[in-house]
Amino acid sequence: QNNATTVTINSDDNAPIISKHIYGHFAEHLGRCIYEGLYVGEENKIIPNTDGVRNDIIEALKELGIPNLRWPGGCFADTYHWKDGVGPKEDRPTIVNLWWGGTTEDNSFGTHNFLNLCESLGAEPYLSGNVGSGTVQELADWVQYTNHGQISPMADWRRENGREEPWNVKYWGIGNEAWGCGGNMTAEYYADVYRKYATFMSSWSNDNKIVRIASGASSEDYNWTEVLMKNVPYHLMEAVALHHYAVIDWTVKGPSKDFNEEIYFKSMKEATKMEELVTKHSAIMDKYDPEEKVALFVDEWGGWYDTEPEIANGVLFQQNTMRDAMIAATTLNTFNNHARRVKMANVAQVVNVLQAVILTDKEKMILTPTYHVMKMYKVHHDAQLLPTSFENVDYSLGEEKIPALSVSTSKDKDGLIHISLANIDSKKENTVEINIENLGIKKITGTILSSSKLQDHNTFQNPTKVQPADFKDFKVKKGILTVKIPAFSVIVLEGK
Ligand code: AHR
Repeated sequence: QNNATTVTINSDDNAPIISKHIYGHFAEHLGRCIYEGLYVGEENKIIPNTDGVRNDIIEALKELGIPNLRWPGGCFADTYHWKDGVGPKEDRPTIVNLWWGGTTEDNSFGTHNFLNLCESLGAEPYLSGNVGSGTVQELADWVQYTNHGQISPMADWRRENGREEPWNVKYWGIGNEAWGCGGNMTAEYYADVYRKYATFMSSWSNDNKIVRIASGASSEDYNWTEVLMKNVPYHLMEAVALHHYAVIDWTVKGPSKDFNEEIYFKSMKEATKMEELVTKHSAIMDKYDPEEKVALFVDEWGGWYDTEPEIANGVLFQQNTMRDAMIAATTLNTFNNHARRVKMANVAQVVNVLQAVILTDKEKMILTPTYHVMKMYKVHHDAQLLPTSFENVDYSLGEEKIPALSVSTSKDKDGLIHISLANIDSKKENTVEINIENLGIKKITGTILSSSKLQDHNTFQNPTKVQPADFKDFKVKKGILTVKIPAFSVIVLEGK
């Protein structure tokens, strides 16, 4: 039999704006994300590029309205010395990628490449500073190099390297996973280290106040958030991060495309945990910061499986199936609904790594199901949340149960209402009824992402197997909108 759910949309004038930065991305020096992914080199005559960055990727990311991009890691960030990546390329030292495959990199993709790319994408850069193996001075210098508009040692050096105006980078991570690859610190020790770094990071301009982001907890490490909120004064910290991956088991993560229903269920159990994590971390922040001065940034999230063997140097390269579409849809609904505290999130990662929105193979490029979900959800960028409430139905496997349905709704600046619905149940359709009587909606259109098998994905041979389609399986009668959501599908409705 099928499921049925009644959803209530509550209008609330004080509901938060869903920051577009919830739809952020992440690019690390890892596998084929930067080199051979985004960046193919200025000299490349085969793959069309602008200053070495693939044109097809630039176009696809613009289409997505990518609001921000985090770089250069991840774990890599705490090994990265930015000064080695500026100035004449032939003079740059190499760097060995300690965490990701021990590859030797030539530092050819550096600060200028990254910040110019963000500029051409219209995306805010988010730089992750090196705390683990760097110095306070090094990070303070990076801020001066990118943001100082007058005469100063770093601004002068930037000009020598060809860039007159500062980039005005707003988002600055102070270390990454300080509890692990960022230095294996305790929360108390890191809080002290953080205070020192944050002290020397100046905004350099009143028009561009920087946002300093503390390296956050891993999943349910609530103590980490508690200690940071307790030990760091708020004038030093604008955001606290959180990382959570949908991993079924860190030792055997399972295949990215040839998985069975049991593995699917376990992945979805880990992914839907995001709701509880964000709720509980936010509650801790509420206790110390009732005025909501400090934001929660989930700056790494996504599904993590075993690396696909078919791509050379494919460290953390994985395929992206309908399972990933389900992870993206439920996770983004969670972030939308928690927009009061969650002001940024970054899916890991943008190209060829983990839950990527884009995969490349030499000159070929494909868009993944996750890309399509992010594009369908673009309508929520900077729209006002309309809080929803409903009694969920279960998706069960054996004795275990997880919530089958996730919903988020918003109203954009033109008054358009968007409802995104995801049904993660692998077998049961869900008939959802929504009272829209008081929303002033005259006409509804819809888009769906679905496919015949959970394992379906796009390939370089068949790049459009999974793609959005028009959706019409809904009706409105006496102010009640009834929508039939097929098993494992995601729908976005627009009401005007
Ligand atoms: O995204 C891959 C890695 O996952 C990042 O480098 C690290 O921060 C996390 O553990």
